Amino acid sequence: MHDYENILIVGSGGREHALGWKISQNNNVKKVVYANGNGGTHQNIQILPTEIDKLVQYAKEKELFTVVGPEVPLSLGIVDTFNFYDLPIFGPTKSAARLETSKEFSKQFMNRHSIPTSEFKVFTDAEKAIDYVERINFNAVIKADGLAAGKGVFVSNNKTEAIDAIDQLLNKKIFGPASEKIIVEKKITGEEVSLMAICDGETFMIMDTCRDHKRVFDDDLGPNTGGMGSYSPVSEISESDLDYISDKVFKPAVNGMQAEGNPFQGFLYAGIMIEKQTGKPFVLEFNARMGDPECQPLMMRMQSDLFEYIKAAENKSLDSMQPIMWKDKFSTCVIMTSKGYPDKYETGYTIRGLGKQPENEIMIFHSGTKLNQDNELVTSGGRVLGITSLGKSIDEAMNKSYQIVREISWGDNQQHYRTDIGRKGLNSDR
Ligand code: GLY
Repeated sequence: MHDYENILIVGSGGREHALGWKISQNNNVKKVVYANGNGGTHQNIQILPTEIDKLVQYAKEKELFTVVGPEVPLSLGIVDTFNFYDLPIFGPTKSAARLETSKEFSKQFMNRHSIPTSEFKVFTDAEKAIDYVERINFNAVIKADGLAAGKGVFVSNNKTEAIDAIDQLLNKKIFGPASEKIIVEKKITGEEVSLMAICDGETFMIMDTCRDHKRVFDDDLGPNTGGMGSYSPVSEISESDLDYISDKVFKPAVNGMQAEGNPFQGFLYAGIMIEKQTGKPFVLEFNARMGDPECQPLMMRMQSDLFEYIKAAENKSLDSMQPIMWKDKFSTCVIMTSKGYPDKYETGYTIRGLGKQPENEIMIFHSGTKLNQDNELVTSGGRVLGITSLGKSIDEAMNKSYQIVREISWGDNQQHYRTDIGRKGLNSDR
């Protein structure tokens, strides 16, 4: 396998910071640059993830191996363009990324390949969608068909909430063309888990379990966000659950994409709900990338060399690799956000309390941060920092993360975070 020395990470979030941090631990890797990175990723180039022609030129000139973090450049065909120029890149093609970029494609694909998912209907007409929810005898989840930065899913508890979501999406078109079409699906209740696999188009290798906390406030209250924190592993998911999910979800997904002429190469993310009544897993969604903030604790716990797996997947030889090894520890990632996120928030505040270098089992992964003209670290986005720790127990990992979190602030208490990240995992020592 080719030994690449210089890596380009496309993206600017905590996921990309964590991926670059882990990849830089590979012995052959000399340099990791980020396009366009953040205040915590030190070698940044001023090219946006969506400026694909410029990225091609840069990667060619510097002989870089490229890893794509977020979904938007995938949806624009970054991988297809790099493939056209014969440049090494890890991520799915535009067509394969439809597993995430079109909820309709994804749900129909799941049905075609008998992947367990809840029943659904697709609508472009608000009246017809409302008429449908008036008649059904279950609570509905309403989803924008296209990309909506993690905010296009409305979980309703009654008909009024469902009708309001339909109105927002189809009449008010709050996500523009991304919500010209919607999915109305049956709500499944239970415990959620995020699973990711590295795929080479033909085979896949599943990663350890992780749980995201999507709501903005403690106890899963308030609106959905991109993710307020995560922990890994999720102990109530047993080995046999994982085998089942591997067999009934990832295997048919990877085989199905290959059979349909869209082999999936990249990180495949399945958002799974283990149904309360039956204990059966249902796929809530597929994403064509690593989760953010799921990536952060997974990278902290991964014992194996991530870049060797990425190279093997890019080179279609994943089947020659040993199973991924995980540290026998827990990890939690607490996301600190700008106050007001996911709605309106202010940026540009100097971040205080980052001075002390945390011990090596704590990493502060940056997302919405940048260095200002005075070389000060300031806030620049909704999700700002991900304080990620390892511990022998989830309790220990939580304590380590929250100790650091409490030292960090900006503005006049302009920071916000949940205080219960990992709580669901308590009492589950390894
Ligand atoms: N944390 C959810 C996502 O990455 O989509």
